[in-house]
Amino acid sequence: MSKTFDIGLEWLTGGAREASALAGPAALRALPGGSRGTFFLETFGCQMNDHDSEKVAGVLLSRGYRQVESPESASLILYNTCSIREKAAQKVFSRLGEFGAEQKAGRIIGVLGCVAQQEGEDIFRRAPWVSLVCGSASYSKLPELLAQVEAGNRRVTGLDTDTDETFETPVTRRDNPWRAYLTIIEGCDKACSYCVVPYTRGPERSRASDSILREVRQLAELGYSEVQLLGQTVNSYADPTARKMKFSELLLAVAEAPGIRRVRFTTSHPRDFSPDIVDAIDRQPKLCNHVHLPVQSGSTRVLRAMQRTYSREEYLEKIALIRGAKRTISITTDIIVGFPGETEEDLAETLSLLETVKYDGVFSFKYSPRPHTPSLAMRDAIPEEEKSRRLAVLQKKQREIQTSKHLSMVGETFETLVSTKSRRENQWSGHTSCHRVINFASQEPMLLGQYVQVRVTGATPNGLSGEQAP
Ligand code: SAH
Ligand code: SF4
Ligand code: F3S
Repeated sequence: MSKTFDIGLEWLTGGAREASALAGPAALRALPGGSRGTFFLETFGCQMNDHDSEKVAGVLLSRGYRQVESPESASLILYNTCSIREKAAQKVFSRLGEFGAEQKAGRIIGVLGCVAQQEGEDIFRRAPWVSLVCGSASYSKLPELLAQVEAGNRRVTGLDTDTDETFETPVTRRDNPWRAYLTIIEGCDKACSYCVVPYTRGPERSRASDSILREVRQLAELGYSEVQLLGQTVNSYADPTARKMKFSELLLAVAEAPGIRRVRFTTSHPRDFSPDIVDAIDRQPKLCNHVHLPVQSGSTRVLRAMQRTYSREEYLEKIALIRGAKRTISITTDIIVGFPGETEEDLAETLSLLETVKYDGVFSFKYSPRPHTPSLAMRDAIPEEEKSRRLAVLQKKQREIQTSKHLSMVGETFETLVSTKSRRENQWSGHTSCHRVINFASQEPMLLGQYVQVRVTGATPNGLSGEQAP
């Protein structure tokens, strides 16, 4: 499968990650040299960061750079960073530490994303070989900032967050040839007490609905069949145009674009999760039957300290809405254990919530104190070993829930978008509409990018296995 992108570079076909079978490093090495040099871009963090990197790569390619797979062979090295937990933030400093005195003359190093925004010019002090520090709220200025770096300026910053702009580019270079990420709302106006995101990504800015729908139609024409709408609080979308499209109306309009077969959206905030979203999923089968609805804790007391703006009961009302749908909708969540002051009773409430909701998947984390967040100053920190213990208890319970859920699916058939060919012969892998990974056997010579029916024959806590149904 080959695809021509807006910038007219036909070689940019396969995805770097899921679809790595299509365009590996060898293919990249074989490319003609970029007129400005080469860039290496490494991304940490969430899907919004992944998609920002696709936009940054597009901007660089359109300026005449060529992408390479290792920092050693690059003239411009960029790290798109994440600051959500301390470990994530440390990664970039360990990467930067690899350069130091050995820094090659003329090579440019830049730090983008949430650590850039959080640390600002301090990065120049900690790593004087860095020339560009730019947070995501300033990416619309990126071409301008790159021009300054190219002109030899060695201290270029983009750190404003008081912006009402979104970062849109006509040159985005998408990694996956079938599933397109699309940011519809940037930043975050919530104020969860543990979270750096409102600080690092700036205030909420929604994209105009007509511009979103235009891009969806273009993506469908390019052959993308699955669209994933992105936002830190995607369902807080507020159309800035006179049309004032509601989020659920936008979902339905995206699904109606000719050629689009699946629409996903992430991440939903429980407070803004309204019944019309469930109605839309019920009405339109192209809307995937999966909702990611982070709860963070099952204890109202902890939720209050986290400033999540809902109680356990209010969250469970949202779950009841989803469970009340005619279609079976899978529900996944995020949970933080070891928030300051979390007691054994609070943890027990979170465990009982797992039992009540029976999530299809849980991303669980140990609380990590972050700079500039209100919870940083909270007393009653939970010791690290205790956080680890709580995490293990939670994960064990969830593993049991998922195992029995997955076992109950044996014998069922799911439509699967095939995204990976395994090294093992006749083995493929893809996602169901309910966002489960399914590994399966098929004798077909080429299935990448296709939708096939897969019958489940086996189950593990983390996924399903099966065979292509006749
Ligand atoms: N906007 C999304 C999530 C953003 S961050 C939402 O509101 O749900 C992804 C997840 O990282 C969060 O849901 C939370 O579970 C986790 N997280 C955020 N800050 C954290 C911190 N300081 N320590 C541990 N986990 C954190
Ligand atoms: Fe962070 Fe809360 Fe905003 Fe999510 S809603 S990004 S957890 S502040
Ligand atoms: Fe990380 Fe920033 Fe995303 S902190 S999770 S990259 S919004």
